[in-house]
Amino acid sequence: MKRIDRETVQRILDTADIVEVVSDFVNLKKRGANYIGLCPFHNERTPSFSVSRSKGICKCFSCGKGGSPVNFIMEHEQMSFNEALRYLARKYNIEIKEHEMTEAEREEATEREALMAVNDFALGEFVRNLTSTDDGRDIGLAYFRERGINEQMIERFKLGYSLDRGDALYKEALAKGYDEKHLLTAGLCARSEKTGTVYDRFRGRVMYPVFSVSGRVVAFGGRTLRNDKSVAKYVNSPESVIYHKSRELYGLYQAKQSIVRNDKCILVEGYMDVISMHQAGIENVVASSGTSLTEGQIRLIHRFTDNVTVIYDSDAAGIKASLRGIDMLLAEGMNIKVLLLPDGDDPDSFAQHHSSAEVMEYIEGHETDFIRFKTSILLDDAKNDPIGRARVTNNIIRSIAVIPDAVLRNEYIRECSRMLEVDDRVLVLQMQKVMADNASRPQRPAVNDDDPPRADPIPAKGAADTPPDGPGPDTHAHPQPSVSATVSLYERELLRYIVKYGMVTLIEDDGNPVSVLEYVRAELDADEILFATPLYATIYRKAMAMMDASWSADSVSCRERLDEIYAGEMREGQEEIRLQATDLADIENREKLLRERCDDNYLRRLDEFAVRYLESRLISDPDDGVRRTATDLVAEKYTLSKVHTHYARVATERERLAELVPRAVAELKLGIINDRISHNHLRLKQIADDGELISVLMEQKELFECRAALAKYLGERIVAPPHRS
Ligand code: GTP
Ligand code: MN
Repeated sequence: MKRIDRETVQRILDTADIVEVVSDFVNLKKRGANYIGLCPFHNERTPSFSVSRSKGICKCFSCGKGGSPVNFIMEHEQMSFNEALRYLARKYNIEIKEHEMTEAEREEATEREALMAVNDFALGEFVRNLTSTDDGRDIGLAYFRERGINEQMIERFKLGYSLDRGDALYKEALAKGYDEKHLLTAGLCARSEKTGTVYDRFRGRVMYPVFSVSGRVVAFGGRTLRNDKSVAKYVNSPESVIYHKSRELYGLYQAKQSIVRNDKCILVEGYMDVISMHQAGIENVVASSGTSLTEGQIRLIHRFTDNVTVIYDSDAAGIKASLRGIDMLLAEGMNIKVLLLPDGDDPDSFAQHHSSAEVMEYIEGHETDFIRFKTSILLDDAKNDPIGRARVTNNIIRSIAVIPDAVLRNEYIRECSRMLEVDDRVLVLQMQKVMADNASRPQRPAVNDDDPPRADPIPAKGAADTPPDGPGPDTHAHPQPSVSATVSLYERELLRYIVKYGMVTLIEDDGNPVSVLEYVRAELDADEILFATPLYATIYRKAMAMMDASWSADSVSCRERLDEIYAGEMREGQEEIRLQATDLADIENREKLLRERCDDNYLRRLDEFAVRYLESRLISDPDDGVRRTATDLVAEKYTLSKVHTHYARVATERERLAELVPRAVAELKLGIINDRISHNHLRLKQIADDGELISVLMEQKELFECRAALAKYLGERIVAPPHRS
């Protein structure tokens, strides 16, 4: 997808109104300053989904989902960042200017567009044939009826029929101006080797279009209606720039919302299985279309959920073949369950012959954990043959070894120890060997790690530390300690002030306004402190980049806009005064009040602009982590004090910035110093060299002095880390 230029992105973000955007999906009621409704991300009866127009965010207080307009659309419609922007642009009629493409990009884009266009055209033809031609009705529609598929499903999956008329589609397409080249590449038509004539590849078949996650037709599957074994049951579109079989899943477009809502994806084999399950009311179903699962398909599912249930027909032939594919799911950290259907059933026939309540009940009652399932079917095979059992053990251990979560791995080891009747210590040893082997294999990076490294080593330098590249006596021999949880919380608190009030004027320095962010930057730079928590460091960097790159120009144009508004309000007010005033004194008096009102409005709007500047951008940042954290910081509820109401506290915070921000800076510094003191404390126990000992002791002394000074500044209160709700 082409990139959208920065200016347009900003315009979309500025225009999108959170209340309007959410209202397209949720019935909202006004409640105080906010709006409230039933959360669209989980099932609930009492509303906990709150929308704040002034903050530009929505948030479910029960499940935590929500965010800026672009984030809401991403989550609700399961779109990418760019898709969501395009959605909002369409909603608000904002024209998207495309950036300049390279020649190669342009060619591929043209090819993609052309192939999508012929597929769109063909889809229209197939759909129309099914209900508007005699053959379509008598053959195609009759077939779907016989299979028990109703009209809603035909409509939802855009099922169709390809006429059995040699080259009917080809002729029609040429007449409409489509290129033969594209019809051939898309696999809608083919050239006969014998005669050299072009024919319709799908003629006489019922058609299942394959949609991409975003709903474009990228391929078709055509099923023959003949019972002739010499004819392929399915003909599918070939691979092309728009269709990579290993990266698509049949039904995902129709299933994605239900997958998210149920936090689970059901995996079946065939087109018909997906459709019949949908018809039975189970919509979180996708098909791998007969092939074994690929990594690309797994990633696709993982975008929507961690939980997969694989349904197998009871004929066991396919099961063993597919077991390996499932190891990939495990390695991705997904939770896999397996469901066997009763003898002779596939998902299609099962869904057709049972009520939707029965199907759901069956799934819930019969899905079993994958490792347990695999162990039991392999054991059934091996019976009592000791070599066979050893092989089974080895196989199971390989599956367990790829699971990223250590706790889960241990649970499985315990369970399999019981099932396999092997001592669990033996299994653990075996597993550790497999993990070591996996880790040393270069092509597949190890996914498992019992002891993941902490966040980056602390780049923050305490107030009394040596400069980063200075000749400090201590920096080379000892690993830097990781950032402690306490420091991370102080960083978060400081970052919250930056995100929420970064461009607000904090103090005047010689008559020059200094914003919150400028103040914090000066303070941190003076002591060479960097944010140590990687995500916080990213947000801080982005905030500074916005301040440096665009703030001054943007605030100038904001003032210009406000000047105009000011002039307009004054003009209107003066006209009114002229009509109403009784004498000169009255005029003067009224004009004074008018000027005061307009001044107030001007300052209020200017302040709103400054307050919103960073937060509105960060809560709509393309980076998932930045966007989420910024949203959390903006939405964070304050621990309610007993004296103040929620609203009073918010107002107070805004007014008390000059006290709160320096305090947050001091607290962070104190946290870092405390970290360094305990770090040095540990080192002192190990140091043998006298020179080193002295330098560490001196540093300690300096740190203690700094700590005392900071504690004094902080009012000698007990400094507890800020609360995190
Ligand atoms: P029905 O027989 O109509 O129930 O079809 P189905 O969709 O249930 O198909 P089936 O269970 O026989 O096969 C599962 C999937 O494998 C199908 O949906 C196709 O995607 C794929 N498949 C089956 N047969 C063929 C074939 O002959 N060629 C190709 N390319 N794919 C096939
Ligand atoms: Mn079938």
